[in-house]
Order: sequence, then structure tokens, then C-alpha cells
Amino acid sequence: MVGLGVAGSSVLSACGGGGGESAQGSGQKTKKKQQAQASTTTSPSVDKGKPIVEAAFLPPGFAFAFDLAESGDPAILVHLPDESWAAYSAVCTHAGCEVGYQLEAQRLGCPCHGSVFNPAQGGAVVQGPAKKPLKEIEVRTEGGNVVLA
Ligand code: FES
Repeated sequence: MVGLGVAGSSVLSACGGGGGESAQGSGQKTKKKQQAQASTTTSPSVDKGKPIVEAAFLPPGFAFAFDLAESGDPAILVHLPDESWAAYSAVCTHAGCEVGYQLEAQRLGCPCHGSVFNPAQGGAVVQGPAKKPLKEIEVRTEGGNVVLA
């Protein structure tokens, strides 16, 4: 099993999201890459009930990539412009590539086939080919942190 560390998810800053050479579609089993504790990104692996990030660290309009410890799947926390928080599985509902945050558009975009999702509307599809919204992940604020619920 060769886990290529294609970790194009440094989401906190403006990430073009176009550099990933993710294998298309069928190879969805490569998502375990996080287990290698890659030091190339700042994506922490977060358990339920644990803090994802300090709320003050992430201004509205920005996003933060993390991994779900339970499944190993990548996820993205978005601080919405209205100051609320939303988090989604970063696994594209079209064919499983990893979506990234588009800072200027404030959307979540997939580098593989161009699907775009709106984090302010439940991860709804803005542009296909994906047909289903991103899977929402529950978070809450607690003690100055945003916590995985
Ligand atoms: S995997 Fe095809 S658009 Fe995301």
C-alpha cells in the first residue's frame, strides 16, 4: 500500500486548490494518509468532543482543515462571514476527491471535476457534477475553542 502524501489542504491561507493530483474516483482508500502523521500540513486529527481550533485564531471568512480521528477522513471548518461556524467532510460527494476552501469565493471547491459547494448553506452544491451536498459535521464553541461535537 503506497500512501502518496498528496496533502493539498493548507486551507487557512488562500489555497488555490488546483494542485492536487488526486487519483480519480475509484481509489478512495488512499485517504488514510493522515495516519502517517504528515508534518507537511497543519491538519490536526480531532476526536469527538475535542477542540479543533481556538476560535480567535480563525477570522470570519477563513477555513481550517482538520481530520476526523474516528474515520481518518479530511474535514474543513469554516468561520462564516456572519460569525457562525460550519464544518463539512472534505470528501467530495461526486467521486471522493478532497475539496478545498476557496478564500475569495468563500466556497468549497473540488480540484478533480470542478464541483463547488456553499459552506454557508449546508454544503449545498453550487456547481456540479456533484449532486449531493457535502456531509455536514457538527461543531460547537466551548471555552474559546471550536469543538467537534
Ligand atoms: S470528485 Fe468529481 S467533482 Fe469532486
